[in-house]
Amino acid sequence: MFKIAEFYEFGPAAEAIQLGSAPDFEKPEGDQVIVDMLVMSINPADLLTIEGNYGIRPKLPNTPGAEGVGKVTEVGPDVRNLKIGDIVLPLGGGSWREKIRCRETMAIKLPKGIDLQQAAMIKANPATAEVMLSSLVDLEEGDWVIQNASNSAVGRFVIKIAKQKKLNVAAIVRRKNLVDMLKSDGADCVLIADAQTHTQDMVRKLDAACDGNRPKLAMDAIGGYASNQLAACLADGGKIYNYGLLSGKPCEVDPFHLVFRAIELRGFWLADWFKTATPPDIADMYGRLIPMVQNGEISGAVEAVYPLDEIKTAVAHAAKGGRSGKILLKTNKN
Ligand SMILES: NC(=O)c1ccc[n+]([C@@H]2O[C@H](COP(=O)([O-])OP(=O)(O)OC[C@H]3O[C@@H](n4cnc5c(N)ncnc54)[C@H](OP(=O)(O)O)[C@@H]3O)[C@@H](O)[C@H]2O)c1
Repeated sequence: MFKIAEFYEFGPAAEAIQLGSAPDFEKPEGDQVIVDMLVMSINPADLLTIEGNYGIRPKLPNTPGAEGVGKVTEVGPDVRNLKIGDIVLPLGGGSWREKIRCRETMAIKLPKGIDLQQAAMIKANPATAEVMLSSLVDLEEGDWVIQNASNSAVGRFVIKIAKQKKLNVAAIVRRKNLVDMLKSDGADCVLIADAQTHTQDMVRKLDAACDGNRPKLAMDAIGGYASNQLAACLADGGKIYNYGLLSGKPCEVDPFHLVFRAIELRGFWLADWFKTATPPDIADMYGRLIPMVQNGEISGAVEAVYPLDEIKTAVAHAAKGGRSGKILLKTNKN
């Protein structure tokens, strides 16, 4: 038997999630591999899935977890590119468990010696940052982009990857004490959006920084009035891509920006990118990200690591605001 986290009904994440067990897998067939999971991350999307508020409502019971890293422990007779002992990034979902069985093409081999905590956070958030910056709007070196929730994992990857692409980043956060951290990540202008903020003050501060070269792309993780703040900061004709539901409120954009300034509001979901991406596109994208993680050019912050046994405490911690980084899970194989 192996341990597995699962939920039987939708509801508040820390209440709904349970630790259970599943029977060991039969020997892998064909091109299947068995992977012992080592470190897994907890993301807002996992919490939304448990609450029943994500883009997919899975059949129940369900095991959450979009990201994680593991070690190959068994290989089927037709497996060609993986061997026992390889460290891999499984591409399927349901990572909050001790063991996964998948086809070898659904597990990306990672370089030896890669930091396991960083490896556990590659699949979703750096990929979201990379795809948003490379595929949503035509951007040239020197262009500005703007985003909110800039201290989130995605937000910090956006800053670091944008700097590699020689883009300028305006980074909005709701806590003043994050300014220095985001500047040292590479943000060119940090804007505070707290309860006292007037949008026109943000726009003035941004204009002083970008000298009239306003952003063409805004990445919105929050919705609600935060979408309007981004609209006000964009160049005429600029595009807001909402990719997160952090406020729980509908995106609000003043029609002034839509009608007279040709601002566009759209959605972005990495899952949709995966639906149309070819295997070479996916290999190419992770082929760019994995070396950056391996050599420390991009990294994610970690606030705490819990054993899988403490899944309820870990999920309750992940649901709190004001964190300094991700909450990770580890198995006793790590
Ligand atoms: N569409 C996609 O394909 C895709 C892919 C990956 C992630 N996402 C989304 O991207 C967002 C960030 O994910 P992550 O894993 O990077 O987050 P994370 O590292 O867990 O950080 C959470 C962030 O949310 C902020 N936050 C929480 N509640 C908020 C609220 N009510 N108003 C404003 N900010 C709030 C936090 O600010 P404080 O630190 O101040 O609390 C922090 O910046 C999430 O919405 C996630 O679902 C979307």
